[in-house]
Amino acid sequence: MTDPILIAVAWPYANAEIHVGNITGSYLPADIVARYHRLMGRDVLMVSGSDSHGTPITVRADAEGKTALEVYQSFHAGFLDLFQQAGLTYNLFTSTHTRNHFKISQAVFLALKQNGYLYADRQFQWYSLSQERFLPDRYVEGTCYICGYTNARSDQCDRCGNLLDPSQLIDPRSKIDGSRPELRETEHYFLDLGKLQNEVADFLRQRESYWRPNVLRQSLGQIETEGLRGRPITRDLDWGIPVPLDDWKGKCLYVWFEAVIGYLSAAIEWSKLTGQPDAWRNWWHNPQSKTYYFIGKDNIPFHAIIWPAELIGTRKTFDEIIGSQPADNLVLPYDVPANEFMNMEGQKISGSRNWGVWGRDFLSRYDPDPLRYYLTVNMPESKDTDWTWEDFLKRNNDELVATWGNLANRVIMFANKHWDGCVPDPGELGEQDRALLQVIEGGFETVGKEIEAVRLRSALGEAMRLASEVNKYLDDTAPWAMVKTDKQAAGRTIYTALRAIDSLKILFSPFLPFTSQNLHQYLGYSGQLFGDQGVENVQDDLGEHNVLRYYPDKAMGQWAPSQLAPGQAFQSPKPLFTKLDAAIVEQEHERLIQQRPA
Ligand code: MF3
Ligand code: ZN
Repeated sequence: MTDPILIAVAWPYANAEIHVGNITGSYLPADIVARYHRLMGRDVLMVSGSDSHGTPITVRADAEGKTALEVYQSFHAGFLDLFQQAGLTYNLFTSTHTRNHFKISQAVFLALKQNGYLYADRQFQWYSLSQERFLPDRYVEGTCYICGYTNARSDQCDRCGNLLDPSQLIDPRSKIDGSRPELRETEHYFLDLGKLQNEVADFLRQRESYWRPNVLRQSLGQIETEGLRGRPITRDLDWGIPVPLDDWKGKCLYVWFEAVIGYLSAAIEWSKLTGQPDAWRNWWHNPQSKTYYFIGKDNIPFHAIIWPAELIGTRKTFDEIIGSQPADNLVLPYDVPANEFMNMEGQKISGSRNWGVWGRDFLSRYDPDPLRYYLTVNMPESKDTDWTWEDFLKRNNDELVATWGNLANRVIMFANKHWDGCVPDPGELGEQDRALLQVIEGGFETVGKEIEAVRLRSALGEAMRLASEVNKYLDDTAPWAMVKTDKQAAGRTIYTALRAIDSLKILFSPFLPFTSQNLHQYLGYSGQLFGDQGVENVQDDLGEHNVLRYYPDKAMGQWAPSQLAPGQAFQSPKPLFTKLDAAIVEQEHERLIQQRPA
């Protein structure tokens, strides 16, 4: 196997619907990069799953009178549906609530402990007398000891913005029943980041030349200015992964500590599912392997500091614990191209205020490729961006439809009509024809380079620029008129344009996989550019759960220029994209306002 590429995608919390900001923040860029590397013939493994533990889920469950398991399962089912509709091709989308993930997380914990990177320490925590349990920080509210705000969360004040020491909160009350909790001492395990700090800093310095500045600032910058301190990685909770030690009953691994381990455990689960139990090592133990983490900016410290520290700290002991030969160290992140945020019509997207566009809702009215297009040209790669319906409409109609869709359809329809439904025989190409093809074929280099560097806005912009080159060429050569006087010359021009379009189909395909596949068929090809996806049900002693899987196809497309053969027969073409009516802008604004809670 060659060139292993691990595409590690943020695990969505299974307590909220996915909105366009989440999609453009991590899931879509991951899929574009994964599809590109597949077309390059590389060994791609794209994994993620539902982040099913942690207090956000128990908070929601309590509020709705459900169990955490029920909440997680219903959102998980929605994610599988959305990802299929949006064409997000996870080789495996699983969940943290699986026996496999429990085992691997516990093994990482034990490896860190055995290698001396964990220590136990005592802490004070709010304890609810009425519920007879410790309360997570965000379940406790009270008065801020810094500014006096009376509705501060125990770990953070929304008025002065300070992070708070929960034990100093004044007049604490439980968010669940309003009762007054008391401080009790409890014991937890801490990850000794101080001990790992030098190695983490070295790892970051090796990547300094190509990482995004914002990611470096929140990782290397943080280490160089403040240094790292131990962080508690266990909690007094019952929903989660039990600490694998006999005298630690009733405590769980902290959700962030175990969720990031999902990138490793999902690769292992995928290996088992596909009947090649050691295959995961191709991505996790092979020094040639490149691992990319697609996340939003709020996740940077966990992926650029904590997760590398966990990986470094497990050393060879992890393999021993899972019962295999001690192998090399686990592969550290190659890149963490975290995105900023996308806002909605000038305001922050918010679930509680229902201000946003939700993925499944959007796809009930529009097609996936226009979504993927708009979310790529507007991707928050270096700064926050704003979704506006006005802009969505404009980009769809003026770029997707006018520059690309109409080009493809106009040329195929014309060829279909004048050359008996087949690709015309060009004879010998002229200078202008060859020049166009050279420009377009250069795109495999230029667009590819941008995707490899995860500059996806620029990559897609370049592909669209190349499409306008074909439009210019057709304006110049005007085959529509020429066909009446010089059919041979018109055929040469149309052949050239078709070949350019056939190449553009591939250049666009990581971004616009559905319409590229349609175009592939209209051009008379029978195969698929990508593999299929499907949901499978798997069982373990924690219950059953559905996973989403992508099945790579051996006969897949290739990131290479068109070899379109004269005489190939078209299949009745339809328009690639739909022009949207300007009225949708007002309708969608109305919908945004209507959907807000009273
Ligand atoms: N659930 C977290 C979020 O949605 C992301 C976790 S990424 C993980 O922000 F790797 F830690 F799971
Ligand atoms: Zn305050």
